[in-house]
Amino acid sequence: MPTATPDSAFTKGLEGVVATESAVCTVFGDEGRLVYRGYDIHDLADHSTFEETAYLLLNGDLPTRAQLKSFTAQIKASQKLDRVVLRIIKDAPAGANPMHVLRTAVSAAVFVDPDRGDDSRAAEYRKAVRLIAQLPTMLGAFQRLRSGQKPLTPRRGLSLAANTLYLLTGEIPETEVVRAFDVALILHADHELNASTFAARVIAATLADVHGAVTGAIAALAGPLHGGANTEAMKMLLDIKTPDRAESWVRERLARKERIMAFGHRVYRTEDPRASHLRRMSEELGRKFGQSHWFGIQRIIEDVVKREKGLYCNVDFYSATLYYVMGIPLDLYTPIFVASRVSGWCAHVLEQHADNRLIRPRAEYVGPLNRRWTPLRKRG
Ligand code: ACO
Repeated sequence: MPTATPDSAFTKGLEGVVATESAVCTVFGDEGRLVYRGYDIHDLADHSTFEETAYLLLNGDLPTRAQLKSFTAQIKASQKLDRVVLRIIKDAPAGANPMHVLRTAVSAAVFVDPDRGDDSRAAEYRKAVRLIAQLPTMLGAFQRLRSGQKPLTPRRGLSLAANTLYLLTGEIPETEVVRAFDVALILHADHELNASTFAARVIAATLADVHGAVTGAIAALAGPLHGGANTEAMKMLLDIKTPDRAESWVRERLARKERIMAFGHRVYRTEDPRASHLRRMSEELGRKFGQSHWFGIQRIIEDVVKREKGLYCNVDFYSATLYYVMGIPLDLYTPIFVASRVSGWCAHVLEQHADNRLIRPRAEYVGPLNRRWTPLRKRG
């Protein structure tokens, strides 16, 4: 039968389809290996900082001392929010979903961006750095305002990780907590062509700007099959409550063919390399804050899901408890993911713009053809 669509294999969810070339990041699914710009994620997690990692993703190389100083200075100079953006966050109704607020604030940030309307590479880069700088401030402002407190001004002496926690809580966090948070930001910074990054690249490929691409990416990350899984995972643990209930809880869900959140992955067929760092940090901080029972529950769940379904946990499983023991509200876990992943999204947008072609695939048409139009009066 003739069809409107050219011959080519259709794969649901684009599984296994190579949709672009990229030098930003790659994932070796069978080996459980993740590489940013040629550097193994374990090296970055063990030795780097989020600022260095963001620079690496945007520029392709680790910064020299002078480059890092200048990059950090650019971030610090851009952290404050314009009153237009602050007003949007303030005007969010009580109970607003923080991902909706963040998405709207990022979209509005272009109104007051000094480089708005300039789509040169240099201007797009500066816009990217401003977004990286401002996301923690947006997050902090939202959290403070909804708890009836005044938003805080970012502290120049603090790293991006420390500032994020300070802006959320009003307290300067301990070094150990800051380091764990910084490593979590490094681990979430990029992940090849995940759904939100693909969304960002599709938007960027129309020659839309960085703010548009990041706004769309935030919308994609919010879903529970993607970045939203970390909040869902913590809700599950809170429902389970104690290690003795974990096995039966999971078995019942699996028997009903329900998904266990923060398990499974489209690409990894073995342990997600990010999970091993998050597991260790979650155990350490859980112990430090007298909340080791979460780790106990999580180990049981991991064991059961591995045995029953052959699935490993992903990045969202232990990040959930890491943030929980730090006292971060559940609905901010995915927004924190945004504060990190914005660096990867922007690196992909710059890469897309540097060698662009409109992304416009085809659909295999399965609807009817050759139907006869009938006037409304004859349709009953
Ligand atoms: N719990 C139970 N079973 C699962 C899970 C899970 N979390 N994930 C996959 N499966 C099962 C499916 O039911 C299916 O089984 P079947 O073949 O018997 O029907 C099989 O594993 C394959 O699942 P698919 O949905 O085809 O795998 P896909 O590659 O499309 O999905 C995804 C990947 C969306 C991540 C999936 O594993 C999932 O829904 N996980 C839970 C949500 C989650 O954790 N998302 C975060 C991913 S990481 C990130 O985005 C930051």
